[in-house]
Amino acid sequence: MNGKVFDRVNPESFFSKDIKPALQNDPPGEWMPKIPDDCIRLSSGYPDPELVPVDELKNSVMKLLEEEKDLPLHYLGSQKVEDLKSFIQNLMVDRSMLNDNDEVLITSGACQGIDLIARTLMDDETVVAVEAPTYMEALEIFQNYTKHFISVEVDEHGLRTNRLEALLADRKRKGLKLPRVLYTIPTFQNPTGTTMTEERRKHLMKLAVEYDFLVIEDDAYGEVYFEQGMKSLKSLCGGADPRVLYVGSLSKVVAPGMRIGWVAADQVFIRALAWFKKDLDQPFAQASMGSFLENVDLEKHFTNLRKVYGDKCDLLLSELEKHLPDSVSWYVPKGGYFVWVKVPGVDTSKLLEDAVEVGVSYVPGKYFFLNQEEGLEYLRLSFSYASEGDIVEGVKRLGKVIWAVVEDL
Ligand SMILES: Cc1ncc(COP(=O)(O)O)c(C=O)c1O
Repeated sequence: MNGKVFDRVNPESFFSKDIKPALQNDPPGEWMPKIPDDCIRLSSGYPDPELVPVDELKNSVMKLLEEEKDLPLHYLGSQKVEDLKSFIQNLMVDRSMLNDNDEVLITSGACQGIDLIARTLMDDETVVAVEAPTYMEALEIFQNYTKHFISVEVDEHGLRTNRLEALLADRKRKGLKLPRVLYTIPTFQNPTGTTMTEERRKHLMKLAVEYDFLVIEDDAYGEVYFEQGMKSLKSLCGGADPRVLYVGSLSKVVAPGMRIGWVAADQVFIRALAWFKKDLDQPFAQASMGSFLENVDLEKHFTNLRKVYGDKCDLLLSELEKHLPDSVSWYVPKGGYFVWVKVPGVDTSKLLEDAVEVGVSYVPGKYFFLNQEEGLEYLRLSFSYASEGDIVEGVKRLGKVIWAVVEDL
């Protein structure tokens, strides 16, 4: 520009004051150590490649474009977008989760639902209660909005509601701020695979009323049961009670790349979420999913995947019995994708280097805790993505590295 020298703009000086604290956190997703391609991935919480309905999705997309031409590719898109929403609404009604005042918002995966809820309910003073351990990406999202958390332990029966009650009572006594929101994955939790008992579910909802907080129920794995499903928290709150915001997803039962999730909640919440959601939609993905659901027998697909994941889980558990020392323990899941393993006295994030060296990966437990020290002795194994052969070989390799380190203790 005619030799005129411009000062270089400092981009960071333009960031809003609301996002600056969030940018001090670790970059999203960078927590996971890089895993070489040839490793057996017992770390990945992805669906089994064989269960992703590639042909059915391909046919549904082709049918959609052949029948509707350019329509699904426009802003407003196809009628199938509405059909998807009706399908989800009906699913919610069937599962007794849509109350009189509730509405459904389709989101780009459960994660967008969680983010929209956080954006709507949380500011830098909000106290949020979370499970310890919990889904680390939800932690990442919440930490973009607030730094105030209460962590409550999970055991083999899910969230320890007695501990929650004691913590709440203690904070109240001390005049400390109480949580406005609690985030839970009550059914086949990530990472522990555990399920909150009905008694604890009722206790939790009693506490929510007593201490006046909302519950975000993340049910990403609810349909992946091996024998029997669980009644959601949302369905426990009858009538028009707006206390539970339910988050669902088709990622674990159809295909995560389609990014189809939803929130079912009181219409006042849904309208606020929709305020920020507008035009951040993907009408083509939604129409494609709408078309897929019209053409596929979903219950049959679910029945098949429940059997496949149930068998793979059994296989993983029996291989763990064979190859791991007696000091190592784990919870037996009744659904979902994960087995949570405790290796007493061992820092599993250090052990991962040895595991990767022999060609197997897992997720070190510490990443699922706000206070990472609490998770040092744990690791999360996933049976969803690896093939049966790889599960057998992967656990054998893992057994070797665990035995080596345990013998040195
Ligand atoms: C508990 C939980 N919630 C939500 C998600 C993400 O769901 P989505 O792909 O629909 O964003 C996952 C994925 O791992 C999860 O484990």
